[in-house]
Amino acid sequence: MNAVAKEITVDPDKLSQASELEKMVIQGGNELNGRIRISGAKNAALKHMVACLLTDEPMHLMNCPVHLGDIKMQAAVLKTLGAEVVLREDGLAMIHTPSIKNHVAPYDLVRRMRASVLILGPLLARCGKAEVSLPGGCAIGTRPIDMHLDALTQMGAEIKLEQGYVKASAPNGLRGAEINFSKISVGATENIMMAATLAKGITIINNAAREPEIVDQGEALIQMGAKITGLGTGKIVIEGVERLHGISYDIVPDRIEAGTYMIAVAMTGGKVVLENTRADLLTSLIGPLKEAGMHIEEDGKDLIVERNGVDLKGFDIMTEPHPGFPTDLQAQLMSLMSICKGAGMITETIFENRFMHVPELVRMGADITVHGNSALVRGVAGLTGAEVMATDLRASVALVLAGLVAEGETVVNRIYHLNRGYEKLVEKLSACGADIRLA
Ligand code: UD1
Repeated sequence: MNAVAKEITVDPDKLSQASELEKMVIQGGNELNGRIRISGAKNAALKHMVACLLTDEPMHLMNCPVHLGDIKMQAAVLKTLGAEVVLREDGLAMIHTPSIKNHVAPYDLVRRMRASVLILGPLLARCGKAEVSLPGGCAIGTRPIDMHLDALTQMGAEIKLEQGYVKASAPNGLRGAEINFSKISVGATENIMMAATLAKGITIINNAAREPEIVDQGEALIQMGAKITGLGTGKIVIEGVERLHGISYDIVPDRIEAGTYMIAVAMTGGKVVLENTRADLLTSLIGPLKEAGMHIEEDGKDLIVERNGVDLKGFDIMTEPHPGFPTDLQAQLMSLMSICKGAGMITETIFENRFMHVPELVRMGADITVHGNSALVRGVAGLTGAEVMATDLRASVALVLAGLVAEGETVVNRIYHLNRGYEKLVEKLSACGADIRLA
């Protein structure tokens, strides 16, 4: 790690205003060839950051995607609660919360990023009270937080909803409970796992989510002194401890970022080495891509992804909780399928409103018909550039991928979504030969 790496400024107001005006301009048609270093996982980093609230000792998170809008926003949320946060250019996040000075996460910050709801569990566990504005985030469905609130109630919290805020308190501390989630939720599993680390007694989470980011978070908590078993299974058991201590932790690579670049190469052709990644976290994508005709090979921490001019065949995919196909790669896969030979069916089972990229892809020449939560994608010979706009993070990147192969120019508007979740997207793609720039 570079001892003199520059500190990154965290100013939530400048963040969203600046990027809302920016566009991305892509001239399609270039193959991708080269190397791309995969960043640490956004969806793990955001949770590691809130877990820092569980200890009064300094925490060092390495491989943190510090340039992302969501990470800076989470840093701003933590600062309002009393944490000292330093994000450094070299991917180090230093977070120290000697005491909780304020237990309210205000609307202005939370509305921009849903993951701030995850401060509820740690704050309740550490200081017995927490207030969080009801969350915003990507517009991909109603996304309730009832499971978080029900489970915290079972652990002894009193929860009221007032003026758009969740007001939670646990004057006598949280206590362990057996939680039976009615469906699989990543966020609720994480929130309860964090809360349970400092609760009195044993908490059992049944029907827990098994995403690699949860396993990563659990492993960090164990290093901090938590007692957790069953990570990566549907039953997580947590025995509460008195206190947790600070650690240095290397965040798991971003499987969604890696998967997005794999799909990019499948679309453009060429050969790209993805550095710092883990193929075992992406089997639900690698299997179908190989079957469709891609060459994908592991070489230590690198993944070599190649399409040697062969035409890829369409296939069917259904999104599911891990280890099924991730909903966060569904939009990108649809872009790919739109130019495959033959047809493929994509079924979305996690979020009810996650086909918002369809009309934009159709404007670029794709042939897609949506029936309820399934989309029939009939491959076309080619896409054409257009001015497009997306309303969520993964949908935006799907349009960028389409732009990379479309004939002519594609302009992607409202790219602040991309800045939330893809670190140095333009640099990484241009280094591999894409004609892409910000305007
Ligand atoms: C996380 C990821 C997101 C990913 C999603 C599913 C982060 C920051 N975000 O979101 O990128 O797409 O997992 O893999 O990690 N639900 C309820 N009640 C609740 C909670 C969830 O009904 O209290 C529903 C949701 O509306 C959704 C489903 O459960 O239909 C799964 O959502 P969940 O796994 O909780 O997603 P997030 O944690 O918000």
